[in-house]
Amino acid sequence: MRETSLSPDNFIHPLFVTFGKGVRKEIPSMPGCYQESVDRIVRHAKEISSLGIPAIILFGIPEHKDEKGSGAYDDHGVVQQAIRAVKNVVPDMFVITDVCLCEYTSHGHCGVVKNGAVLNDPSLELLAKEAVSHARAGADMVAPSDMMDGRVDAIRTALDEEGFADIPIMSYAAKYASAFYGPFREAAESTPQFGDRRAYQMDPANRREALKEVALDIEEGADIVMVKPALAYLDVIADVKAAFDVPVAAYNVSGEYSLVKAAGKLGWIDEQRVMMEILTSIRRAGADLILTYFAKEAVKILTT
Ligand code: PBG
Repeated sequence: MRETSLSPDNFIHPLFVTFGKGVRKEIPSMPGCYQESVDRIVRHAKEISSLGIPAIILFGIPEHKDEKGSGAYDDHGVVQQAIRAVKNVVPDMFVITDVCLCEYTSHGHCGVVKNGAVLNDPSLELLAKEAVSHARAGADMVAPSDMMDGRVDAIRTALDEEGFADIPIMSYAAKYASAFYGPFREAAESTPQFGDRRAYQMDPANRREALKEVALDIEEGADIVMVKPALAYLDVIADVKAAFDVPVAAYNVSGEYSLVKAAGKLGWIDEQRVMMEILTSIRRAGADLILTYFAKEAVKILTT
């Protein structure tokens, strides 16, 4: 009689790639999550695959950051190295890459900055370069998370021109300017050095605007659309699912993970039950795919 099911196939596991060798540094606000060097990412990807989770999404923490985020589109960048290494050792792993500049820019914004403002159009060129560089390294899908206007079109065009017409795009289509990203920014060392992201991310108070953002991304060529965060935006997930016929992904973000972990640690909630309830709710709202730091723990419960 159960209307909603969870399966390992629903999950995408986020991983943070850093430079160096033998590095596996736990993120203080995200117990069980790590910044890992390429060799450790490969090991981790093997473990994730052996649990039956089909996909990972990679975030990069480069050794050097600069104004233009050049580490993002460097063919020898941390993410590019990780893609090659994972595909080499775990060829069945579906490797998705986060396409954004904030982890690579010295100012921590998701686009090019001039005179204290984020410039939309000049950012598109760099994001397209980054996506192509990921595809060249062997990524199976790219996921732009920057929220610049027109980036799906720019990335689709660049991928097609470079011979990657078969690489799909999962766009962070309805991405809110959320405080739930706090722990991630610690993990990715990507907190903006001035201002905030409200000029390009959405106002949490807006529901109908999400449909407009999603429609634009689909028109520009998005194959999968994402709502982010997940838990405080279940209404948006349900709206998007009802209005469009493409697969819907939801990002169960860092802050949602940290809340559960912290309360669990204090003994205030039954952590495992809360985790499964949240993941089930995200599916019930309409998400086909869930990006979640809980993926391994949830799959262990599902398969034992
Ligand atoms: C931006 C990006 C962010 C997340 C994924 N991609 C954060 C931001 O906009 O600052 C957040 C993911 C999470 O909180 O788990 N590149």
